[in-house]
Amino acid sequence: MINNKILKAINNNIFETIKKHSDELNIECYVIGGYVRDLLLNKSAPKDIDVLVIGNGIEMAKKVSNELNPKEKVKVFKNFGTAMFKFNNIEVEFVGSRKESYNQSSRNPIVKLGTLEDDLNRRDFTINAIGVGLNSKNWGKLIDNFNGIEDLKNGLIKTPLDPLKTFSDDPLRMLRAIRFSCQLNFKIHTDSLNGIISEKDRIKIISGERIADELNKIIMTQKPSTGFKILESTGILKLILPELTALKGIDEIDGQKHKDNFYHTLEVLDNICPNTNNIWLRWAALLHDVGKAPTKRFAKNIGWTFHGHELKGSKMVYNIFKRLNMPLNNKMKYVQKIIFMSSRPIVLSNNNISDSAIRRLIYDAQQDVDDLLTLCEADITTKNLQRFRKYLNNFKMVRTKIVEVEKRDHIRNFQPPISGEEIMSYFNINPGKEIGVIKELIKESILDGEIKNDYESAKLIMIKKGKALGLIKNEK
Ligand code: CTP
Repeated sequence: MINNKILKAINNNIFETIKKHSDELNIECYVIGGYVRDLLLNKSAPKDIDVLVIGNGIEMAKKVSNELNPKEKVKVFKNFGTAMFKFNNIEVEFVGSRKESYNQSSRNPIVKLGTLEDDLNRRDFTINAIGVGLNSKNWGKLIDNFNGIEDLKNGLIKTPLDPLKTFSDDPLRMLRAIRFSCQLNFKIHTDSLNGIISEKDRIKIISGERIADELNKIIMTQKPSTGFKILESTGILKLILPELTALKGIDEIDGQKHKDNFYHTLEVLDNICPNTNNIWLRWAALLHDVGKAPTKRFAKNIGWTFHGHELKGSKMVYNIFKRLNMPLNNKMKYVQKIIFMSSRPIVLSNNNISDSAIRRLIYDAQQDVDDLLTLCEADITTKNLQRFRKYLNNFKMVRTKIVEVEKRDHIRNFQPPISGEEIMSYFNINPGKEIGVIKELIKESILDGEIKNDYESAKLIMIKKGKALGLIKNEK
C-alpha cells in the first residue's frame, strides 16, 4: 500500500540519504513508530524520526550522518544497539531490528538481532507498529502487519500480541496506553484494558522519572481527567499517586455528606487547562486538595471539615515529587505555595474586600498572584449556575482590586523603603534584633494601610519605634 501523504513526507534529504546507503549495503530500513502514526493522523509538526534497520543500526546511523554532516556528532548507545543524531532540529534515531525478551525485575531488554516481523511483534501498540519502506524496492510502502491503520481510523489502542506479554515485558506501556488514549482521544481495546488491570502491579519496577514523564504528558493534554479516570479504574493510580485515590468517595454521617474530592479535583484540573499551559500550575490544580484526606473530620454541630488541609497538602508535595523524581527546586516550591495559599482568595471574595487584605495577598503571593486566582476560578465546580456566576464575579472583583491596589501601593516585588543599614546608621547601633523589629513594623504598617509605601512615612515610623525601644539616647 502506498500513501501520497507519506510519499510527500519522505521526499527529503534525510530519507533520500538513508535510501542511498541502505541500497548500497543491501540492508532494509523502515521509518516506524510515532512519525508514521502522526503523519497518518494528519498531525503537522515534524516529529522525531525512528528508523528501523534490519541489521546493524549503529553502522547505518554513522554512514547516514557522515553524509548529512549534522552539527553534533552521532551519539551511540552500544548496549541498546541504537544511535542517533540531530539534523535540522529533528532527532533521527536508528535502531537495529530486535527480538527481545525482558528481564523480570527491570525493563532493560536483553537484545538479540531479529527480523522485521520479530521487531514489529515486540512493539507496544498496533498504531505504533506501522512501518514505511525506505529502500528503492519498497520506497514509501506501508508495512502494517497488525492492522494499525484500521485501529488509527477506529481510534483504538491495542497491543499487537497478547497484552499480558506486551505489558509484562515493559510495564511502562500501561501508562503509555493511557497517555495515548488521552492525547489522541482513542479508546483502549477491552483486552488491552484488562491486560493493564491484571499486570498493574508490574508498574512498581518502573522508575519514578518515567512515570512522571507519562503523567506530565497526560497533564498537558486538553482533558487530563480522561487519563486519570482510566488510571484510577485500572488500579494504577493507587500504586503511583495514592494521595489522589485517598480523595475518592463520599462519606455520610447524620445525613451530612461531603463532595467526592477526587472527581472534584479532576474537574478543577480540566477547568484550568484552557487557561494555562504552565505545567506546574496544572500540577498544583491536581494536588490542591490532597491535604483533605488526612485532615477530614466530622463534628456534630458543624459537619465535615478539612481544617488546615492547605498546609498539610503543601507539605505532602515534597514526598510526591521525591517519589516521582521530579524537581525539588523552585518549581516544587511554586506548587507548594499555590496549594498553601489556595483558599486565601476564596476567603477574601466572600467578604467585603479591604485594601489591606488585598495588600497582604499580593505581598504573600508576589508574582504568583494571578496564577493563584486562575486556580481559584478553576476550583468553582458548582453546578448551580447562579452560584457559579456569583463566585466567578467575586474573583473578578478581587482581580480588579489587585490591579487598583498594586498601582497605588506597589506591593509586588516589595522592597522595604528603609534598609537595615540605614536603621543602624540612624540610631548608631550594631546589628541586632531591633533592626528586624523596626523593619517588620514598617512592613506591617504599609500592609495595614497605616502609612504610605514611601521613604518619608517609613522614616517617621522608624523614629517613633526607635524611641520606644530606647535607641535614642540624646534627641536628634
Ligand atoms: N516503543 C515500544 N515500547 C515502549 C516505547 C516505545 O514499543 N515502551 C516503540 C513504539 O513502536 C514507539 C517507538 O518505539 O512508536 C518509538 O518510541 P517513542 O519515541 O518513545 O514514542 P513515540 O511512539 O514516537 O511517541 P511519543 O514521542 O509521543 O512518545
